[in-house]
Amino acid sequence: LNGAPALREAFQDAFNIGAAVSTGILSSQDSFIAKQFNSITAENEMKPVEVQPLEGSYNFAAADQIFAFAQANDLAVRGHTLLWHNQTGDWMFRNSAGAPCTRQQLLSRLQHHIDTVAGRYRGQVYAWDVVNEAIEDKSDLYLRDTKWLQIIGEDFIRHAFEMTHQADPDALLFYNDYNETNPVKREKIYRLVSDLLDQNVPVHGIGMQAHWNIYGPSIEEIRQAIERYASLGVKLHITELDLSMFQFDDRRTDLTAPTENMLKLQEQRYEEIFSLLLEHRNVIDSVTFWGVADNYTWLDDFPVRGRKNWPFLFDEQMEPKEAFRRVIDLTETE
Ligand code: G3I
Repeated sequence: LNGAPALREAFQDAFNIGAAVSTGILSSQDSFIAKQFNSITAENEMKPVEVQPLEGSYNFAAADQIFAFAQANDLAVRGHTLLWHNQTGDWMFRNSAGAPCTRQQLLSRLQHHIDTVAGRYRGQVYAWDVVNEAIEDKSDLYLRDTKWLQIIGEDFIRHAFEMTHQADPDALLFYNDYNETNPVKREKIYRLVSDLLDQNVPVHGIGMQAHWNIYGPSIEEIRQAIERYASLGVKLHITELDLSMFQFDDRRTDLTAPTENMLKLQEQRYEEIFSLLLEHRNVIDSVTFWGVADNYTWLDDFPVRGRKNWPFLFDEQMEPKEAFRRVIDLTETE
């Protein structure tokens, strides 16, 4: 890094800087992660199906490995995630006969899951993504039509937050979602959190996943979302930042390296985004990338399987890209 400060040092007066990690990544990049970041999120290891694959049989081996790494390196941990319609065991929603379980059965399963998982890591998680992606992303429905909604009803979200607060009173509790700057979805997220606050539900923040790309969303759109959510008086975390080199509907597969123009756009966008985040440091107190370096990203399987995306500040050899310097330079002029 020839003299450049690490990300965690550069941003220490603004917000903590995190990365999504997996036990696989830790085996090869642990010291690099500990040097650059001061917060981590388990990419998959703490999701419902991973920790409770079958009713009552919990498997914390992988999650415990991630916590051990965090403790050994004095890293903060964001818990991800307690309630999601994805990566949750099918058993959760069914009774022993295979039919949909009752409302009461699902609520007690939710209670047991949260008590066990949030209870195990009580005091070790500074922020939980209590509920992930409950807002409908495509149609004009308000809430996504999941089994959580169908079986329990709209107040499944309130229950999840109240149960988590009981299990870990000191953790900050977040609602986490993507496409969070889209004006229509933004207003649904705003309405959800506003209603929870009106019911005195312990929700402390909104997680903006920030799965963006080098062409959008516009800085103005991001600013409007930050300011709209901040008007609720909650904290904001950027929870899953990556800047793909491709528009979502761009399925090209001919590139084996980013073009000069793509890199220039990415440098520019990272500089503009971090400048905006620094401007809102009073309400944003955590910024997490959904990965570490371009050698591994979930985007290389989505939306086009096996295509490189080069979304981060560090390249495939974990060397800083020009985008890294542009972002670091922002703090040196602070
Ligand atoms: O664990 C199984 C393994 O047993 C099996 O052999 C293997 C092959 O099929 O699959 C493994 O599960 C994979 C899992 O990651 C763990 O590696 C799933 O197939 C794969 O779909 C899953 O992808 C994860 C995705 O969430 C699932 O929706 C990505 O790694 C992860 O980056 C991504 O993260 C989500 C956030 O949690 C929420 N926000 C969106 C973000 C991107 O989708």
